[in-house]
Amino acid sequence: MRTHYCGQVNESLIGQTVTVAGWVHRRRDHGGVIFVDLRDREGLVQIVCDPDAREVFAEAEKLRNEFVVSITALVRARPEGTTNANLAETPMLTKATPEGARDYLVPSRTHPGSFFALPQSPQIFKQLLMVAGFDRYYQIVRCFRDEDLRADRQPDFTQLDIETSFLGQEQIMTLMEGLIRHIFKAVAGVSLPDPFPRMTYAEAMRRYASDKPDLRIPLELVDVADLVAGCDFKVFAAPAKDPQGRVAALRVPQGGKLTRKEIDDYTAFVARYGARGLAYIKVNERSKGRDGLQSPIIKFLSDEAVNGILERTGAGDNDLIFFGADSAKVVNDALGALRLKVGQDQGLVQGAWAPLWVVDFPMFEYDADEKRWSAMHHPFTSPKDLDPQALRASPGEALAKAYDMVLNGSEIGGGSVRIHRQDLQSTVFDLLGIDPEEARRKFGFLLDALKFGAPPHGGIAFGLDRLAMLMSGAESIRDVIAFPKTQTAACPLTDAPTEVSEKQLRELHIRLRQPPPSVS
Ligand code: AMO
Ligand code: AMP
Repeated sequence: MRTHYCGQVNESLIGQTVTVAGWVHRRRDHGGVIFVDLRDREGLVQIVCDPDAREVFAEAEKLRNEFVVSITALVRARPEGTTNANLAETPMLTKATPEGARDYLVPSRTHPGSFFALPQSPQIFKQLLMVAGFDRYYQIVRCFRDEDLRADRQPDFTQLDIETSFLGQEQIMTLMEGLIRHIFKAVAGVSLPDPFPRMTYAEAMRRYASDKPDLRIPLELVDVADLVAGCDFKVFAAPAKDPQGRVAALRVPQGGKLTRKEIDDYTAFVARYGARGLAYIKVNERSKGRDGLQSPIIKFLSDEAVNGILERTGAGDNDLIFFGADSAKVVNDALGALRLKVGQDQGLVQGAWAPLWVVDFPMFEYDADEKRWSAMHHPFTSPKDLDPQALRASPGEALAKAYDMVLNGSEIGGGSVRIHRQDLQSTVFDLLGIDPEEARRKFGFLLDALKFGAPPHGGIAFGLDRLAMLMSGAESIRDVIAFPKTQTAACPLTDAPTEVSEKQLRELHIRLRQPPPSVS
């Protein structure tokens, strides 16, 4: 958004047109000419607005102290001096933060009944630093999330956390993929593609049933709901007609060689994700029509449907087609996982490194159990369409300025452009069911900060442990962490978490609902 920092505009630029961005430090109306001192982290530059330039002058008349503006102008005067800022460190004992996982709570001794939350990320703090004019921030920071653990998740982990002001989504993404390319080159001698491929969330879900697709596996899903909506097989027809349903096919090249036992094992595998079965068609000899096919379900399907499926999946002799039919969520969970498992089992993984960006995430996802919207990234993420009215009209359609960096099926980084206007932030809180009073109680300090003239800003956080796991070829994040927690979030070395004494509990004003299991 800028060509120069305010504090960098000096004699060497006289005669050139530059674009600067920052805060109105002071505005003076000298009877006809308006002087604006514009400030950023590097210093001040004076802008002179002549009444002859009518439109610009009219805009300048509206400016007040601390407005955030970007100005393109001809350099003709000497600037003032520069100032410098020192970075703060963000606190660990803080207030609940909104990354969507459960917080680790720390009881306060001095405030009975009150709790600190360990940060899930320094999200709000880095945004406040941007509002305060820091311009650029990065930090290697511990984060804490009480969530179900997997091979690439730990309860305490490390982020490379980054925030910038006056940069848009494109600029942030370009900078960040440059960083990752550099790290891979410098550390592992690997040349990653330039640029990284990009895929929308909708396309990733449609083709790979995942928002973090492993592109090393060449298997893809194909939708077939329209082909089976009219068939007698209720297992297929019902979800095919349901707007929340999905019927998808996954072709496995040369999958005809899978034994009955292997297919049964895959059926048990998808059951873990809620799938109620795993229909399939083995294509022995396609030219023979139905006689060349082997399947428990084609008896329920018309010729037209069978031919349509073969056509669309591109199945040839000795291939196998798996089917998922259920709510879109179950089908995506089940076939997304099956795609990875079959790809690995059948030796279909191609190439060593497959990075990509996933973009255009929905702003919100609907929680059918709780009957409310929740933020897909976090509640400070900007929608693509900045009009609060449009957002209110169809929250389910709104796309976010959010981006995830994905490597080999793992999300190594995620970020977004933030909301920097109070009205839009209040609308988002409202849509998330956070009423104005709660918004004030939880995030009042942020809403206030947005009123003071917040710069456009955005950022990203990389999971450093995940990156280390992938780069070292480790199977689990535990292999790259010195004292990792187990799958059930316990420390095998120290036995933490452990019971504490009655005295400690009393000091913290805590009484257990059930006494701990007695020590024998
Ligand atoms: P997000 O929640 O996407 O974004 O987290 C950023 C990155 O952190 C890593 N990560 C984890 N690594 C190990 N164990 C975990 N439990 C775990 N959880 C997350 C992932 C992920 O991509 N504040 C935002 C970032 C932003 O918007 O700037 C955030 O934390 O690699
Ligand atoms: P059934 O009529 O239940 O015996 O199922 C016939 C075939 O459809 C079996 O191969 C099942 O594994 C499969 N199947 C059943 N339910 C589903 C489902 N929801 N999605 C995909 N396949 C299914």
